[in-house]
Amino acid sequence: MSRSLLFFSLLLLLLSHPLSTTATIHRTALFRSQLIAAPTPSPTTYFQVTKPIKLPHTKPCSYLLLQHDFAFTYGKPPILANYTPPQNCPSHNFAKIVLEWRATCKGRQFDRIFGVWLGGVELLRSCTAEPRATGIDWTVKKDITRYDSLLKSNQTLAVYLGNLVDSTYTGVYHVNVSIHFYPAVVNRSFDEGNSGSGYGSRADLIVPISRNLPLNDGLWFEIEHSTDKLSKKFEIPQNAYRAVLEVYVSFHENDEFWYSNLPNDYITVNNLTNFPGNGPFREVLVTLDGIEVGAVWPFTVIYTGGVNPLLWRPITGIGSFDLPSYDIEITPFLGTMLDGKTHEIAFRVTNALNVWFVDANLHVWLDKKSLKTEGHLLRHSSLPLVVTSVSNFTGLNGKFLTSVSRSISSVGWVKSSHGKITTNSTQGFNYSNFMVMGNDGNMQIVNQMIDFNDSVHAKGQSSSIYSIKSFKRFPLYMYSDNVDQANGSYISVANLTLGFNEERVEAGGFGLSVSSLKNLQNGQGSIRVKGNLVVSGLGSTQQAYRYDGSELCYFRNVSSLNYTILYDKVGNTCSKKFQPPGVWGLRNGGLFLLGGPF
Ligand SMILES: *[C@@H]1O[C@H](CO)[C@@H](O)[C@H](O)[C@H]1NC(C)=O
Ligand SMILES: *[C@@H]1O[C@H](CO)[C@@H](O)[C@H](O)[C@H]1NC(C)=O
Ligand SMILES: *[C@@H]1O[C@H](CO)[C@@H](O)[C@H](O)[C@H]1NC(C)=O
Ligand SMILES: *[C@@H]1O[C@H](CO)[C@@H](O)[C@H](O)[C@H]1NC(C)=O
Ligand SMILES: *[C@@H]1O[C@H](CO)[C@@H](O)[C@H](O)[C@H]1NC(C)=O
Ligand SMILES: *[C@@H]1O[C@H](CO)[C@@H](O)[C@H](O)[C@H]1NC(C)=O
Ligand SMILES: *[C@@H]1O[C@H](CO)[C@@H](O)[C@H](O)[C@H]1NC(C)=O
Ligand SMILES: *[C@@H]1O[C@H](CO)[C@@H](O)[C@H](O)[C@H]1NC(C)=O
Ligand SMILES: *[C@@H]1O[C@H](CO)[C@@H](O)[C@H](O)[C@H]1NC(C)=O
Ligand SMILES: *[C@@H]1O[C@H](CO)[C@@H](O)[C@H](O)[C@H]1NC(C)=O
Ligand SMILES: *[C@@H]1O[C@H](CO)[C@@H](O)[C@H](O)[C@H]1NC(C)=O
Ligand SMILES: *[C@@H]1O[C@H](CO)[C@@H](O)[C@H](O)[C@H]1NC(C)=O
Repeated sequence: MSRSLLFFSLLLLLLSHPLSTTATIHRTALFRSQLIAAPTPSPTTYFQVTKPIKLPHTKPCSYLLLQHDFAFTYGKPPILANYTPPQNCPSHNFAKIVLEWRATCKGRQFDRIFGVWLGGVELLRSCTAEPRATGIDWTVKKDITRYDSLLKSNQTLAVYLGNLVDSTYTGVYHVNVSIHFYPAVVNRSFDEGNSGSGYGSRADLIVPISRNLPLNDGLWFEIEHSTDKLSKKFEIPQNAYRAVLEVYVSFHENDEFWYSNLPNDYITVNNLTNFPGNGPFREVLVTLDGIEVGAVWPFTVIYTGGVNPLLWRPITGIGSFDLPSYDIEITPFLGTMLDGKTHEIAFRVTNALNVWFVDANLHVWLDKKSLKTEGHLLRHSSLPLVVTSVSNFTGLNGKFLTSVSRSISSVGWVKSSHGKITTNSTQGFNYSNFMVMGNDGNMQIVNQMIDFNDSVHAKGQSSSIYSIKSFKRFPLYMYSDNVDQANGSYISVANLTLGFNEERVEAGGFGLSVSSLKNLQNGQGSIRVKGNLVVSGLGSTQQAYRYDGSELCYFRNVSSLNYTILYDKVGNTCSKKFQPPGVWGLRNGGLFLLGGPF
């Protein structure tokens, strides 16, 4: 039997371990490093490369919300804490609000998925770092300013991190969760354009589309099959004039590496059992009262134990410490929700295998000058997926091509004290995945590209009110080969390229904001695996991050080999190619991108 297949059977062996029949253990939980490192005086600091949060020059009002040691927490209720808005802060008008997660861990432990919710609204989806014998620490800072309205009242904070501790997996996660409130400066020149009312400002209400407490689990919905449809009923006030659904997604176990899953005919013909299939395409689909209002084609986050854990120490995978969430503008459908009655949002995942953790936050803007708004959906189209798949294989070797595309669009108006505003929301998706299996199933190459376009355009009777265009591109290249060693271990070699790119233009009452992000990781490594543990190995990562935006530019070029940083260059000059906002035109109420998105 080939090594790749052994890879998967080992996984299943691992999953059938009594302590490991959990939704929180990833397929690559296979790779746990038991390398005995030379003693170091201090813990290793892991980090995710990302731009800094631009802060105002005011002194923050900070407080520690939760301090907890996550030991044997799997299948237990989330850890709860009471949240009260900052009491002794000189101002209650905040320019920036930052959530800070700080953690330490020592010993050996799996990468664990976790979520942080406030009043059922998810604030952070993340993955823990894998510790080493000499200890590690890491910090995640997230701008949570968009949740401002939620933070103005008492709430319950919930953190679910399902960890298992035994004589082998000894790592306990020591965690502090804090919030820093940065008061707005009096002159308001630094208010991110967010103090005004209306489009572009923060939502007035955030409705959780997640599971209710109490639970012995996370507040996310767990989707295990393509036929699963999990939903939440909710109501919104009758004076809403805008609604955006923010979707959080993570994938685990048989779908942790969904983009490398093989078609079912390959599995059947080769008599493979317990082998994750359904091909490499996945899509999260959102319905409102049964209507497909939008989709998410997720970024391929690789968790800290994924592919080769040495690649992610200390530079972690893109998005792994702060998984991206995805906004779907559902304002065109608002008319159907303004009847004061209960409505339902449901999630499905096309081709899903167990398990996907999905939930959402519904951001709602309310008309302060009226008790009732009205709206009407004018047009909606969500055509079925266009799928092309070609397989050509003989035995365990072959080539597979999958291409998929889709677009979803809707147009509707809402009448409020802001006038009669017509919103057009469009999503365009394109996906291609080319896979090669060779060396009798031991070698796999995955070459995948996701294009994910969003546009929102809101216009009044005579002028444009608000506009967003976002072009996301997620490239992925993964090469892996496994070579048997005579003594029951094997060498796994992997090369990886992982990219998250986004070009974004946003215009509204606050002005024009333009940004470009190019974030690319390359990794090469080799590990010797025995049982389900990594016994020796090498991992090398190079990352180039460049963000050019109206309010800040940032780049970082960093590389590591095993735990050692080879170079690390950081800068804050804008790239020469970056076009200042003046070059972008707001014409005819439409935003025109001068030049292609990439
Ligand atoms: C959490 O906060 C406490 C009190 O400030 C501090 O002693 C501890 O070291 C902190 N732990 C972490 C993981 O930051
Ligand atoms: C919020 O919580 C604080 C502290 O428990 C309490 O004193 C206060 O009365 C609460 N406020 C409301 C509106 O319930
Ligand atoms: C407004 O605040 C910013 C940031 O603190 C400061 O740089 C600027 O000088 C202030 N402008 C005036 C007119 O006070
Ligand atoms: C699959 O199993 C069937 C029935 O046991 C057997 O006839 C066939 O030869 C097997 N095929 C392969 C490729 O092993
Ligand atoms: C399938 O692959 C085989 C071996 O690589 C090749 O000879 C054959 O032409 C391919 N068939 C098609 C339809 O592409
Ligand atoms: C909505 O936006 C899409 C994409 O920008 C555009 O093709 C379409 O014509 C717009 N529809 C309306 C009714 O404005
Ligand atoms: C995304 O938008 C760009 C620029 O308008 C366009 O060229 C491309 O075809 C779009 N892709 C999809 C999948 O909608
Ligand atoms: C989608 O991708 C395919 C293959 O990469 C390409 O031929 C096609 O033009 C793309 N379509 C859009 C709308 O981007
Ligand atoms: C297993 O075999 C490999 C290569 O043949 C060798 O490097 C390694 O030391 C061996 N390990 C054990 C535990 O025998
Ligand atoms: C893997 O990476 C190594 C080191 O960069 C390179 O020499 C090798 O050609 C790569 N192999 C593949 C198949 O990408
Ligand atoms: C680190 O890299 C070296 C080669 O440079 C390799 O021999 C060693 O096994 C790697 N692993 C550790 C943990 O040092
Ligand atoms: C990053 O730095 C390395 C080493 O100095 C250099 O070779 C590479 O070109 C740099 N990459 C970028 C994108 O600047």
